[in-house]
Amino acid sequence: MSVDEPSGADRPDTASVTARQKQMVERSLREWRGDLDGRVVVVTGGARGIGRSLCEGLIRAGARVVAADRTWDGAEDFRKQLDAEQGLAVEVDITDDAQLDAAYEAVTDRFGTVDVLVNNAALVSETLFAPTGHRNTLDTTDQDWEAMFGVNVFGTLKVIRRFIKPMQEKKRGSIINVVSSGVLPVAAGGGYHGLRPWTVEMPYQATKAAVTALTFYLAEEVRGDGVAVNAIMPGHTRASWFDTTARAFNDMGVVYFMRPAISEHLLPITLFLSAQDARGAAGRLYYVPEWNYDHGFGDYAAWLDHELPADMEEMYRRLEAAMPTYERSGVPHLPFDAQGALYTAALADLGSQENWAGGSNQ
Ligand SMILES: NC(=O)c1ccc[n+]([C@@H]2O[C@H](COP(=O)([O-])OP(=O)(O)OC[C@H]3O[C@@H](n4cnc5c(N)ncnc54)[C@H](O)[C@@H]3O)[C@@H](O)[C@H]2O)c1
Repeated sequence: MSVDEPSGADRPDTASVTARQKQMVERSLREWRGDLDGRVVVVTGGARGIGRSLCEGLIRAGARVVAADRTWDGAEDFRKQLDAEQGLAVEVDITDDAQLDAAYEAVTDRFGTVDVLVNNAALVSETLFAPTGHRNTLDTTDQDWEAMFGVNVFGTLKVIRRFIKPMQEKKRGSIINVVSSGVLPVAAGGGYHGLRPWTVEMPYQATKAAVTALTFYLAEEVRGDGVAVNAIMPGHTRASWFDTTARAFNDMGVVYFMRPAISEHLLPITLFLSAQDARGAAGRLYYVPEWNYDHGFGDYAAWLDHELPADMEEMYRRLEAAMPTYERSGVPHLPFDAQGALYTAALADLGSQENWAGGSNQ
């Protein structure tokens, strides 16, 4: 079989994959039906990407949703939709104290309280170092680090300081911090090493590591107030920057890591964490694809996006056709390093490995 021409048999039936994804979304909405009715959920970075998708799901789950974002450019339709659906769109830069005070006032004026906060807003590498998202650490400037820590760490903390107040007063609430699997250490032989330190992601991963540590420590400090603080790691997900980055890699002759998941794969765990408080899970760090698998919401492959634009479909089909078959009895889905090994093998087969400066997979 030519690597350029994957056989029809190897291609998934995209209509049935998409139908199954829709079924899993509907099932999650059924599973938490009623639990979020009328709850006020604030999602930062809610105008686009993962944040928008979470807002749409939370609205369908019956929550009153506040989508807060630095800019609504290109998202005016969603802004109108939020107004029409009893939600609230707020324009706020989370690094700005005065704007945050005004946003907090707007939310409490409108809804009187806050039940859930999803800290999703972030400056990602692909935006700071557009379009590839890659810059070697020694080539980054202090300003790069200040900009990323300003949004991802200090901005997140500024948001928490304000929006946690009504939760503490009510002795009930949930905070969900969106981090990244790139922060994970792995133990081997008495030493710890990074899960995938070759992906060239400073200072982004340093900020996500800081938010992960904040999650663990803050969770214990506010557990007694009834507020749960947890973190989630999405995995490789098609967000607002994705197509531009993937195409930039394609132009360099490199396939941009593997086919991404659709943003909806984050909905079940977000509903679960939003519906509970510190009497449930608190101080935990969840990897979303594993959580989905363990809770009957499919493995990672079940959420992959098979409705990409034609040029990107062609790129990922080429990669998938070149990937070695991986089968190990008793392992129903691929651990991260096995995926990485397959990807590297496929790139080598495609002859494009030498163009690769380290694949980013936030
Ligand atoms: N997409 C992935 O593969 C992936 C993987 C791991 C983690 N994440 C995390 O998921 C979250 C969402 O990212 P995404 O991939 O959807 O990216 P995205 O760029 O599509 O969305 C990020 C949103 O945050 C907003 N934002 C940025 N700076 C802001 C500021 N100062 N104030 C207010 N809003 C601001 C942006 O305008 C944008 O709407 C981030 O925390 C990111 O680190 C994403």
